[in-house]
Amino acid sequence: MADARPFHWEYQPVVEREALRVEGGRVLRGEVRISGSKNAALKLLAAATLTGERCRFENVPEIEDVRVMVETLQHLGVVVDHPAPNVYEVASGDVDWLFVPLEAAAKMRASFILLGPLLARFGRIIISNPGGDRIGRRPVNLHVDAMHALGAEVEYRYGYYYVRAPGRLRGTRISFPHVTVMGTENAVLAAALAQGRTVIQPAAQEPEVDDLIAFLQKMGAEVERTAPDRIEVEGRRRLRGADHTVMPDRIEAGTFVVAAAVTGGEVTLSNARAAHLPVFLDVLDSVGVELSCRSDSIFVRGAPTGSRAYRAARISTAPFPGLATDLQPPTAVLLTQADGTSELEETVFEDRLEWLADLGRMGANVEIVDDHHARISGPACLRAVEVEVGDLRAGASLVLAALAAEGTSTIRGAHHVRRGYENIERKFLELGASIGRVEEGTARTAG
Ligand code: UD1
Repeated sequence: MADARPFHWEYQPVVEREALRVEGGRVLRGEVRISGSKNAALKLLAAATLTGERCRFENVPEIEDVRVMVETLQHLGVVVDHPAPNVYEVASGDVDWLFVPLEAAAKMRASFILLGPLLARFGRIIISNPGGDRIGRRPVNLHVDAMHALGAEVEYRYGYYYVRAPGRLRGTRISFPHVTVMGTENAVLAAALAQGRTVIQPAAQEPEVDDLIAFLQKMGAEVERTAPDRIEVEGRRRLRGADHTVMPDRIEAGTFVVAAAVTGGEVTLSNARAAHLPVFLDVLDSVGVELSCRSDSIFVRGAPTGSRAYRAARISTAPFPGLATDLQPPTAVLLTQADGTSELEETVFEDRLEWLADLGRMGANVEIVDDHHARISGPACLRAVEVEVGDLRAGASLVLAALAAEGTSTIRGAHHVRRGYENIERKFLELGASIGRVEEGTARTAG
């Protein structure tokens, strides 16, 4: 349940021995409300530090990553209130520290998004090199290069970046060698308080970047997407507080679309925007999943399990508007149920196909060709397993596979899933799944 009490000062470590137990074979039916976007909410909370005035956010997902971001802000001395579930208020009039420690960075790579706003507002910051998900190398060189281009002095010592802006940051032209989502966002956040004009190209086109731009505009920032891959910022001396409702989470939406499809279910997703899932929904359509989309809801009707109704597909991940890399794992689960051989290409990250080995242990016919390519032949009859998950999206996708499998699966490392999905068990339970959380030998299964 969401907790309306204010957060405590200390970190409360997640229970790493937590597991999810899923009894497969239930047909999912009903309606699920998609929560606010993780990847938007984290950046919006960071953006609030650009002003000393109070900012208020609604539809913030109650997830582990938001809790880590809130606690990181509180450690800096930022006041964060949590007056009601999914509502957060941030006031960073003054801060005690300009130091983002290893503890925060190791828990969540997205803590690096504090670099741009804190540097721009306070002129200096010491920030740990992040760890985050175990997918690919995930460097932050492009973020650091962008700050350097804006006039910052950067030193790297013992795992920390020491960054200073003598005087104000200066607007400039930032040309990333390839698209980076958080790199773009850090550059926009820093440029919002810089002196003069900044042009970022290529800029990421993800909808979460536009949600951030919309919020910055409410704060009085002069930020505009002037071409699909170009963002221009005219720096302002000060910004004001603002209110914002976080956009829906398109990755959570994609996860529930696949859940309905692989269980032969009928599910309506409310607060889900089909416009944020262009290629993904085209892929599902070509596979043979029945979809009907309205402006803020998606209805999914899956083919009966065992009907061999789904067709194989070729998919390739890409920056927006392409197929999101975060939707590669759920899509792969669907392709285990498709007739024929599907080809997967992962172009955004390295090592993001390794988790397919676990899908193979569940009976999927998977061939990992190299770091970027795999084949899945189907349809396969998935069977239950005990499995340890290593990252958020693979973890959620193994839950999807378990929902479609015969027997009861135990998915260990469930804290990874809690990083990004609000109430995932309750949402699945309400759709008729049999899923429960197991902690240190105590089983609580329902449904
Ligand atoms: C964001 C999302 C993540 C999503 C990813 C791609 C958040 C909190 N996370 O991550 O869920 O999977 O976009 O859509 O919003 N790169 C560099 N140097 C850098 C930065 C990135 O080489 O300084 C590389 C990465 O290793 C990767 C590629 O650029 O190969 C794209 O990564 P990027 O778009 O930056 O991902 P994130 O913003 O970290």
